[in-house]
Amino acid sequence: MTDKRNILVTSALPYANGPIHLGHLVEYIQTDIWARFQRLRGQTCYYVCADDAHGTPIMLRARQDGITPEELIATTHKEHTTDFADFLISFDNFYTTHSDENREIASNIYLKLREDGHIRTETIKQAYDPEAEMFLPDRFIKGTCPKCGAADQYGDNCEACGATYAPTDLINPVSAVSGATPIEKDSEQYFFKLSDFSEMLKKWMFEDNHVQTEIANKQAEWLEEGLQDWDISRNAPYWGFEIPDAPGKYFYVWMDAPMGYIASFKNLCDKTGLSFEDYWGKDSKNELYHFIGKDIARFHTLFWPAVLEGSGYRKPTAVFCHGFLTVNGQKMSKSRGTFIKARTYLNHLKPEYLRYYYAAKLSDSVDDIDLNLEDFMQRVNSDLVGKVVNIASRCAGFIQKKFDNQLASELPAPELYQDMVSAGDAIAGHFENREYSKAVREIMALADRANVYIDENKPWVLAKEKGQEGNVQKICTQGLNMFRLLMTYLKPILPETAEKSEGFLKTEFLWSNMDQPLLSQSINPFTPLIVRIEKEQTDAMTEDSKDNLQVAEPLTGPLADDPIFAEIQFDDFAKIDLRIARIVKAEHVAGADKLLQLTLDLGGQTKNVFAGIKSAYTPEDLEGKLTVMVANLAPRKMRFGMSEGMVLAAGPGGKDLFILNPDDGAEPGMRVK
Ligand code: 2FM
Ligand code: ZN
Repeated sequence: MTDKRNILVTSALPYANGPIHLGHLVEYIQTDIWARFQRLRGQTCYYVCADDAHGTPIMLRARQDGITPEELIATTHKEHTTDFADFLISFDNFYTTHSDENREIASNIYLKLREDGHIRTETIKQAYDPEAEMFLPDRFIKGTCPKCGAADQYGDNCEACGATYAPTDLINPVSAVSGATPIEKDSEQYFFKLSDFSEMLKKWMFEDNHVQTEIANKQAEWLEEGLQDWDISRNAPYWGFEIPDAPGKYFYVWMDAPMGYIASFKNLCDKTGLSFEDYWGKDSKNELYHFIGKDIARFHTLFWPAVLEGSGYRKPTAVFCHGFLTVNGQKMSKSRGTFIKARTYLNHLKPEYLRYYYAAKLSDSVDDIDLNLEDFMQRVNSDLVGKVVNIASRCAGFIQKKFDNQLASELPAPELYQDMVSAGDAIAGHFENREYSKAVREIMALADRANVYIDENKPWVLAKEKGQEGNVQKICTQGLNMFRLLMTYLKPILPETAEKSEGFLKTEFLWSNMDQPLLSQSINPFTPLIVRIEKEQTDAMTEDSKDNLQVAEPLTGPLADDPIFAEIQFDDFAKIDLRIARIVKAEHVAGADKLLQLTLDLGGQTKNVFAGIKSAYTPEDLEGKLTVMVANLAPRKMRFGMSEGMVLAAGPGGKDLFILNPDDGAEPGMRVK
């Protein structure tokens, strides 16, 4: 055995103003399986997390509920803690960013950065709500997208066309807090000079697999453009920590959030006597891994390593990004009942079903994973109940009834058993590399082999034959030993079933004792370890997820999310020239995530249009189709070229975008009126 590894892992900190849902759980389950795997292999592995308890949304939410932010985050902390415990997430500490430790760590880091010249101030113009008397974060300003004209877009980016801009660029901006029109006001802000760390980051990003290649390449775009300094301050009223020597200025929530990883670990050290320095000191040889979603990669692979470097802490060994969750192939949706809270799930189903299903889908990539509820049920039932637990239930009865719960003294097929032990190296490699789907595939292949063995040796037939008792006992002992190997491999994924199985076989399942089969010992009577999922359970969960919403928001569907605009006069509408157009060409745009470039034929005249519909359509889907376009929209210069109009589409965005098609008979160039 090589030297024991000392590992610290984290998952991203959930915001303290909302419930944990199945999307969050992809990450907690992914991280937990990894941490449990490391421990099973004999490594030291701590897993810490915390609530992300600061920021404007939490302040406003508390205000809305008529409670203090402290009360809000305390209630949420309790809910999150029980949700995680019930999903068998094995945190060594689940803390909060609103803690004394974090306040001190944030101050010290800031003071060190300032002392070394990495902080500067600048007076800039910011959006201000004169009615609510507060500066507005971009997310709290809504208006019409300056690029594509989509209404009701956030102040930092347009969900319809993907454009990013400043809130001051919005057409008809309104404050989401009071509805007032924001004004611009001077404000002195504190900036972290991220560009001081460009060289370090370039080196770090592309060395030693600190970051997955696809993520590193994405960040490289920012590095090449030249890193902008990062505004780490927010004005009062704000819910967070005040910046030292800057009354009325607070740390931006994303400044003190990752410090919550350090603070949570510090709190654990203070409770247990662990050495803080060994894990976070500049020269730490221990391993540190952050599991995060791909949407927050920039914070963790640019800002965070730079802050750590600048303040004398060690940097992460690696940042592991994963994709998002879709349910039944689509973005989670409250109206479809697929926005499923952790608690709603737990009211109907066992946590291990989901842990297994996610494991069967997860890899080291940043691809999204889909929870298809039909497939979920079938997969769990056929793999866990039909294959794995079946082995134990087929063998246990004979051992109990005929042999007084006593295992045989030898295995009839020791090579098969040793083969299954040897497969452990490959399985361990997959777990280590976060290729859980591959690990699960290997384990299920072994389960198939074990079932074939039992099918071929038919203990139920031998049991009826004279003089075969010894063989029946041996075959069933072989079966139970193979079951024990499978459950050892599955222990990081199914900790509860593994524990029950340990009780059943009266042995702790360790990676290090697998090569020794269980022989000549007694076991406990078998009790069902996992039961099947019934369709009624998943149906009821979906129903409940719809119900939850109806209590909170009586109006559902598109009108609830996107109310009808203020009335206009016919003349206003008549200015818009809508035409039938044929999409003669559709192409990807190099460097654009959301856009497709369309060549539209209006019957003689063609127009070039960039449409933000890539998330829902491939070029092949579109070529040859008729659609409707705004033909007299002034051409707009976009990063990739001129856009000479706009095609019309419905839907909230992402995969849910639907372009308009005219009925048969319409021809390119016809006016739509
Ligand atoms: O995106 C989020 O949900 C953040 N609350 C994650 C914070 S992770 C860490 F940096 F604190
Ligand atoms: Zn737009």
